[in-house]
Amino acid sequence: MATVVLVGTQWGDEGKGKVTDYLAAKADIVVRYQGGNNAGHTVVVGEEVFRLHLIPSGILYPDKICVIGNGVVIDPAVLINELDALAAREVPTARLVISERAHVILPYHRYLDELEEDKKGAGKIGTTRRGIGPAYVDKVGRVGVRMIDLLDTETLRRKIRQNLEDKNHLFSRVFGAEPLDADAITRDYERYAGRLAPLVADVSILLHEAIDQGKNILFEGAQGTLLDVDHGTYPYVTSSNPTAAAAALGAGIGPTKIDRVVGVCKAYTTRVGEGPFPTELRGEMADRIRERGGEYGTTTGRPRRCGWLDAVIVRYAARINGLDFLAVTKLDVLTGLDTLRICRGYRYGGQLLTEFPASLSVLAGAEPVYDELPGWDEDISGVRLYEDLPPRAQDYLERITELTGVPVALVGVGTRRSQMLVRHDVFGQGK
Ligand code: GDP
Ligand code: IMO
Ligand code: MG
Repeated sequence: MATVVLVGTQWGDEGKGKVTDYLAAKADIVVRYQGGNNAGHTVVVGEEVFRLHLIPSGILYPDKICVIGNGVVIDPAVLINELDALAAREVPTARLVISERAHVILPYHRYLDELEEDKKGAGKIGTTRRGIGPAYVDKVGRVGVRMIDLLDTETLRRKIRQNLEDKNHLFSRVFGAEPLDADAITRDYERYAGRLAPLVADVSILLHEAIDQGKNILFEGAQGTLLDVDHGTYPYVTSSNPTAAAAALGAGIGPTKIDRVVGVCKAYTTRVGEGPFPTELRGEMADRIRERGGEYGTTTGRPRRCGWLDAVIVRYAARINGLDFLAVTKLDVLTGLDTLRICRGYRYGGQLLTEFPASLSVLAGAEPVYDELPGWDEDISGVRLYEDLPPRAQDYLERITELTGVPVALVGVGTRRSQMLVRHDVFGQGK
């Protein structure tokens, strides 16, 4: 019995959805604790492909309680669409519980995300334009609308009106854009409130009771460590904390209640959007990895930038998150390459850097120093036991552990539930 936090160790899209879905088989409750529908988690079950943005990946089991914690920002229209799309595919969704303290994304957040990105031009962040950043800005600025406010018509009406008074000035005077209509927004959001009201509850109480009863709880991170607003490649980050400590804050439990942290690490590196990426590849090798790995954004469809595995960032993620284990995904995508490279440091100004630097200009000038390992040709997509992996694939995984200091508990060799090799039971070891 344990509480396990699962986080991305890179720039997102590591395969957290798939690993969550796999581990959820043993969990009683699956919790999202930050981010919003900027996330895109693809889960393959049998012949079916599910793309989840807000609902935890545990929803694909009929008996798991799924929780959206207070740390998440919720676009109610997107959530309702996601619920309807799942229902249309006969996935029951009544087991979803939404925190009354989670903040709501409003049309003015999406609008502002668009306007700010367009205004930045070449200096843009490359956001998903889902209004995530502006919604978190309002939360910290103490003018946000929480789920509990959404359910209270008077409060909702007042907050939208007050917020739009300021924001419409901003839209017209700073951006030269059209103002938005408070009444129209309020009417739509009242409708959403009616639909979501039965799902809204005090999530912290639910989780505390479950922990007291010794239930298995899985916290599903969105984004990744290098997109963390505190620890990532700022300002090319998202506006929340995808790292493990935020699971406590974003779900309403104390940090002493977290037993274990698992980092999901793609066998190579990808990034969507702008910002530094020292091991980025261009040309043929990047194209090959992108095509073999299907590296196109789940949320925006953008081609993902691809590069070699960067052990500097994964070791950094191990420190920031306190990782107990790694889940290495997409090892199958590297099959057939003659030589594989893993970055173990950066050369900068005549020095070898082995710790991830905060400075963007250092990152821009950092030249990766690589270990080279021979690749393997054998098809590994049918392998089910670690010992049956080709020795060179095992060597690759062992080198990851050597360079990061974190043992590998799970290895992904394909998109399906069955295509996972297990070396450690992450729930099975108690506290
Ligand atoms: P997330 O955002 O971290 O949940 O990751 P995404 O779902 O955005 O991207 C990961 C993609 O890789 C998805 O399309 C998964 O189906 C796929 N995937 C996950 N694990 C594996 C694996 O081990 N092998 C292969 N070939 N694909 C995988
Ligand atoms: P999952 O959960 C990859 C990136 C965006 C952009 C930056 C800020 O699927 O791993 P935002 O819209 O959050 O303000 O954009 O963060 N980004 C992601 N990249 N995977 C994600 O989620 C992401 N969520 C946000 O591309 O660079
Ligand atoms: Mg994704």
